[in-house]
Amino acid sequence: MQPGLDALEDGAPPEVLELHEDRGPGDRRIDRDEQLMRGGECAAGGEHVVEEEDAGSGGEVVVHLDDSLAVLQRVADRRRRPRQLSGLPHRHEADPGGDRRCSGEEETASFDPGHDVELPREGGDQRIDHRAQRVGVGEEGRDVAELHARLGVVRHGADQRFGAGESGGCRHAATLLATPTALPPALGGGNAKVGCKRLQYSVAMTTPDTVTSSALLADAPGSEWWRTAVIYQIYPRSFADTSGDGIGDLPGVTAHLDDLAELGVDAIWLSPFMRSPQKDAGYDVADYCDVDPLFGTLADFDEMLEAAHARDIRVIVDLVPNHSSDQHTWFQQALAAGPGSVERQRYIFREGRGLEGEVPPNNWESVFGGPAWTRVIEADGRPGQWYLHLFDTSQPDFDWSNEEVREEFRRILRFWLDRGADGFRVDVAHGLVKAEGLPDYTPPADADSMGGAEADVPYWGQAGVHDVYRDWNRLLAEYEGDRVLAAEAWLPTADKTALWVRSDEMHQAFNFPYLQTPWGADELREVIDESLRAFPAVGAPSTWVLSNHDVVRHASRLALTAENPQGHGIGPKSAGKPIPDVGLRRARAATTVMLALPGSAYLYQGEELGLPEVVDLPDDARQDPTWFRTGGERYGRDGCRVPLPWTADDPAFGFSQTGASWLPQPAEWAALARDAQRGDGSSTLSLYRTLLAERRAHALGAGSLEWLDGFGDDVIAFRNGGVTVVANLGSEPVALPAGDILLASGPVEGGSLPVDTAVWLTEA
Ligand code: NOJ
Repeated sequence: MQPGLDALEDGAPPEVLELHEDRGPGDRRIDRDEQLMRGGECAAGGEHVVEEEDAGSGGEVVVHLDDSLAVLQRVADRRRRPRQLSGLPHRHEADPGGDRRCSGEEETASFDPGHDVELPREGGDQRIDHRAQRVGVGEEGRDVAELHARLGVVRHGADQRFGAGESGGCRHAATLLATPTALPPALGGGNAKVGCKRLQYSVAMTTPDTVTSSALLADAPGSEWWRTAVIYQIYPRSFADTSGDGIGDLPGVTAHLDDLAELGVDAIWLSPFMRSPQKDAGYDVADYCDVDPLFGTLADFDEMLEAAHARDIRVIVDLVPNHSSDQHTWFQQALAAGPGSVERQRYIFREGRGLEGEVPPNNWESVFGGPAWTRVIEADGRPGQWYLHLFDTSQPDFDWSNEEVREEFRRILRFWLDRGADGFRVDVAHGLVKAEGLPDYTPPADADSMGGAEADVPYWGQAGVHDVYRDWNRLLAEYEGDRVLAAEAWLPTADKTALWVRSDEMHQAFNFPYLQTPWGADELREVIDESLRAFPAVGAPSTWVLSNHDVVRHASRLALTAENPQGHGIGPKSAGKPIPDVGLRRARAATTVMLALPGSAYLYQGEELGLPEVVDLPDDARQDPTWFRTGGERYGRDGCRVPLPWTADDPAFGFSQTGASWLPQPAEWAALARDAQRGDGSSTLSLYRTLLAERRAHALGAGSLEWLDGFGDDVIAFRNGGVTVVANLGSEPVALPAGDILLASGPVEGGSLPVDTAVWLTEA
């Protein structure tokens, strides 16, 4: 692959398309960069310029693609201006000669990618205006004819090439991705309308080395629901138990959907509820297409989904593609079939090293501690091959170079999509593909086990993983509605994470750099800036998240000291335990900042109650494999998974009628129970409800951020639309600017903002 294209995979801004408009035939505007880009050739090495200019009747648009690093940098620099990226007006100009144009509806439907776009009569020009980005391909003849022919037969959102051309040995194709509902019948006279879901420009470059690659025009931010959604994570085993066994279940979710509707969330994501021996709380799946009896039945899932949809709440399913349970039929078949069998090739089995094969195939360590390899006993009763498990021994890794594995996951995706799921949160989305040859790797001592700060890890972030998501992206696009893929990819920076959400891959990725940011104004400003540059640069929304089932709850984490960073859980013997009041105050302020940011936000069940991490769980109650695999050295994640308190006065605080609870709940949680907070205007629950309602009312998810200066180094201050946000992360109160207080994370009196407090203001 060429150096420039390598760079795309390595973190350089991945999309490099520049669009330039003609004002009319013979009246082209050429800016300096464009001139710089012109004149290159499509050849291996050096600067590659692809240029396509309409020679047809309209003379509309020139599209340039340049993968040279110099131009990449210029493009990246220009995109480091999030407000411009997210605030461009929709443009629609008179067609100076072509015989088609965007529909009138489109003009008023600014920022809406669901608008109708007229495609041309045969031989005419075509153009799609899409949030100030324009692609027009004035191709005559074959390709347009092909489009028309295909429009007649295409169903279910197949991609449609609507323009193509060749120049300098490079082939170009513009592709319109449509969805099933977006394909009304062709109109008379050869015109057709489709709902424009996404515009994608790809180029295949044929060089002397026959290098083929594609670059994508990031789709301009559109109106898909997930771009601005607040998504609430349900950890089913700890949400609500209706069966009385002390483990939450799907009917428990259904029973509380009204509470979630009242809270004001747009979607729920459910951690795994599929058949599983529960060695890793369901992230060890034995049957991807069935519900574990612990959680109910498929009928319970269908009922829950229907009830959620009836409340306008979408449902995202957790998919675990990196590994299965060792109880999965495939793994059992692999054990029985023996070395060299096709069954073993679905997983990563290898011979050991050493004279007797007694040394693991390489030195990799499991994320949960201990070696990442386990040796099996073969049919002859002797120790034999080893299999790879990046997590627990009960979680063997699939071999994603095997097409059978890929096909099986397509089947699984379809299974849940056909049932109506609105998308998937993809577990360990950076881990599926391992480096060729499985080379040894020793992480640095301070490495984050999921790859947080490391680079070049042979089992994280390998380039080949992106093909899997491109494939899934196309699969989801076949379905009606905006189905979503959300990546759980622990990567060190937003720039790296953005590689998972390029316009032909996933749609969202958890913003773990944001989650991992300590409570400090400079750090927060920096990560917000980086996020609002990196994600929009590839056409994706930034996401924001502060808690989930794998990290210390932010009501505790934000009060941790440097001597006890958030890494591997906190417990009775941890140094520097958080002070609860400080943690809660900061958590409320942090959420108040987060929910004012443009993009999509994730909430983790219980944070709306201000639940802290449970620090003093008894050792014999702990269940996280991390605890066992490190001999108790790491406390792991049980402290953030304790079942929710619903009612102050009932057994198990209303979590389970029998009073059973798979992890013990602290007695002081009575005061945090939902019913105790519901009528209290100063409660955390009330704050969350107000935040979500005002976020929606002011359309902050679809807004843009403008930093405000003059408040001092310890203050975060920005404007998003009509809302001004000020947060004091310092140690002294600060003066508030003029404005009416719309909401506040804590008490505010006398025109000054207390420490660890955030407010939303509107103009007085
Ligand atoms: C990430 C999940 O969030 C975590 O809970 C799980 O243990 C690992 N992936 C392994 O599936």
